[in-house]
Amino acid sequence: MTDAVDYRRYIGSNSAVRRYLLPDTSTVSEDGRLSVGGCDVVELAERYGTPLFVYDEQHLRNRCHEALAAFGDGVAYGAKAFLCKAMARLVNEEGLHLDVATGGEAYVAMMAGVPPNRLVLHGNNKSDEEIGTALHAGFGRIVVDSFAELDRIERVAADLGGTPRVMIRVTPGVEAHTHEYVMTGQVDSKFGFGLASGAAAEALRRAKDSPVMELVGIHAHIGSQIFLLHSYAKAVELLASFVNDAGVGELCLGGGLGVPYVEGEDSPSITDWAALLKQACADHGITARVTAEPGRAIAAGAGMTLYRAGTVKDIPGVRTYVSVDGGMSDNPRPVLYGSGYEAFLPRLTLAERPRVVTVVGKHCESGDVVVRDARVPQELEAGDVLCTPVTGAYGHSMASNYNKVPRPAVVFVRGGASRIVVRRETYEDLIRLDE
Ligand code: LLP
Repeated sequence: MTDAVDYRRYIGSNSAVRRYLLPDTSTVSEDGRLSVGGCDVVELAERYGTPLFVYDEQHLRNRCHEALAAFGDGVAYGAKAFLCKAMARLVNEEGLHLDVATGGEAYVAMMAGVPPNRLVLHGNNKSDEEIGTALHAGFGRIVVDSFAELDRIERVAADLGGTPRVMIRVTPGVEAHTHEYVMTGQVDSKFGFGLASGAAAEALRRAKDSPVMELVGIHAHIGSQIFLLHSYAKAVELLASFVNDAGVGELCLGGGLGVPYVEGEDSPSITDWAALLKQACADHGITARVTAEPGRAIAAGAGMTLYRAGTVKDIPGVRTYVSVDGGMSDNPRPVLYGSGYEAFLPRLTLAERPRVVTVVGKHCESGDVVVRDARVPQELEAGDVLCTPVTGAYGHSMASNYNKVPRPAVVFVRGGASRIVVRRETYEDLIRLDE
């Protein structure tokens, strides 16, 4: 490999994959090979096999650092975006709390050594067991989602003792500009207490009057993959008098900041987002501390997926299919939300990408598309390592064993070293739970 050069040099090239879609420590050698965290990406694929999730540890730390600097203590990482013990440890080391949506996410975080008081428990259908764990272990916050849950918390607390610190989750009535499946702030939502209906006010009263709960704040999460910050400003406007009247010390505005997945997309930074949220709150006289729980904005750009290209099927005049050794089992987002990605060859990172192909997985479904109409280098051929960047959020965490495809390994890279943080599933793992 020749000397690595800063990839920023290539900003402005329409053909090469843009720098902003690659992890922070990406460099490209003179002959076009991509390294991340000081590790040659094609060599990682050869060493660990494919499909492979590769995360730039420094990128993850940079985003955590940015979130902490922007919001201050209390900011949490939305663990659903990507979670394993190494990630939980990293986030904890960087001083963030962890938003966990289930007992399972809480378990992984605790097994990684995250102190329970750094955990924020979410969920629209928390079980008695999950609430019990939160109380017993002493979670930092329980974000209450429904009247039934208020009852449940009181019942479990009466049995177990302890003082749950709760936040009331409010749906402010905002339709964020994002995919319908990931909108959460609108009136018609399974999440939270509606503001306009008076449900939020009633929930607040109940939490305040409760002999067992300590009300610490208000929570609102309006959706995910949001580029237009005015949706947040609107949410703050709608929430302002409610929050001010409640007299609580904390307002968490959830996660949801969008990230660019394909060329031409752009997103505000975590710093910009925090500034807007704080400004909007200040404009409305909100004195409660403003916090947030970004998931995607921390994890997405840090990760990339490496596949091995296999069968190439050309249907003249119609389309060329390039099949890879993973697909909807490691990245269901294209199928679920119609999400777009870029694809490139890490051996020829700077190559022109004039050829249009559809990258598909190996599952027995026609919908199993990884990248529709991907622009790839002319040189792409069977056996190549093909990379899709920005797969660090909601890829591994939503992976499945569909068609009994073992889930990929996850590798962290940093300072020229790589380490497996989640091992590749084996065929034995596929029958591990079978009786
Ligand atoms: N807080 C709450 C209460 C949430 O429900 C979520 C995400 C977050 C924080 C983190 O949101 P983020 O910053 O990552 O947007 N599977 C979908 C995304 C689902 C988001 C669910 N909730 C996708 O792949 O786009």
